[in-house]
Amino acid sequence: MSIDAQILSALRQAGDGSVSGADLAQQLGVSRAAIWARIEELRQLGYEIEAGPHIGYRLRSSPDALHADDLTARLGRTRVIGRDIRVFEQTTSTNDIVEKLARDGVPEGVAVFAEAQTRGRGRLGRQWISPARQGIWCSVLLRPDLRPQQATQLTVAAAASLVAAIRSQTGLKPEIKWPNDILVNGRKLAGILTELSAELDHIRYVILGIGVDVNVEAEAFPADLRRTATSLAIETGERVSRPELAVAILRELDRNYRRIAAGEFEGVADEWEASCTTIGREVTIRIGDRRVRGRAESLGEDGALLLRTEHGRIEPITGGDVTLEK
Ligand code: BTN
Repeated sequence: MSIDAQILSALRQAGDGSVSGADLAQQLGVSRAAIWARIEELRQLGYEIEAGPHIGYRLRSSPDALHADDLTARLGRTRVIGRDIRVFEQTTSTNDIVEKLARDGVPEGVAVFAEAQTRGRGRLGRQWISPARQGIWCSVLLRPDLRPQQATQLTVAAAASLVAAIRSQTGLKPEIKWPNDILVNGRKLAGILTELSAELDHIRYVILGIGVDVNVEAEAFPADLRRTATSLAIETGERVSRPELAVAILRELDRNYRRIAAGEFEGVADEWEASCTTIGREVTIRIGDRRVRGRAESLGEDGALLLRTEHGRIEPITGGDVTLEK
């Protein structure tokens, strides 16, 4: 952890209490003057840190900004996801950044956030609106020991993680529309874009792109999306802390990724199914130019949606656009 991350971590651990400059200096192995200089920098970034000769340092409030050191300090120890966190002020798409990191051989678990994306993308070549400081636009690099057909497991894990994190941070009860739309009151507020590089029999790497409309205001959505899109702020009536939610998502993702690595996808699938509104419904799925109709029965072992078609056959579906029939 960097010095700033360690300072923020110590201040957070103290809660309403304070930490003395001397203790911090000793813990971190630097001078008190160095601590003071870092505290000044953190104040410039918007952290309200009280200081006094007798009270030491106390964290009074944090900005609603994504800072790598702060996210690292809040996250604490995770096994894989978020052990390396990078934040960009603006980028084309965080998936692009992670793809470059993947090609450069960076280990799995790196999480890249951007405050704004200029070319955020959604599934099926759609655009993903990513206004500055209003959402969580994040991509995570994974190098799982899975076959390409099992990549859907990771999307399932991401959706289950998003539901759990949103629920714990806001009290809302999001629903999953297969394969990866997260809805509240029938409107979408988060999505997942899974991009894959694979050989025939094994995955080289996966980029899990996660977008959450956190404090996006209704006017920020283009007119054609206003009836179908929403945000956590719109649904709860209050602003939601992006750093807290970001960390909750990374933590849940780490937990679910470990379950998959341990061969325990079933537990993840059960959680996913409990929030999924597609299972048990009559649906039409558009896959390119093809349309398949049937009843969404359950999630298969690899993470595919098992569809009982009009002809009574079970067809595993790994991608497409779903419309609920009744
Ligand atoms: C969808 O629902 O169509 C998927 C949306 C995924 C959006 C996220 S935002 C972070 C990452 N970077 C992108 O360009 N897309 C994903």
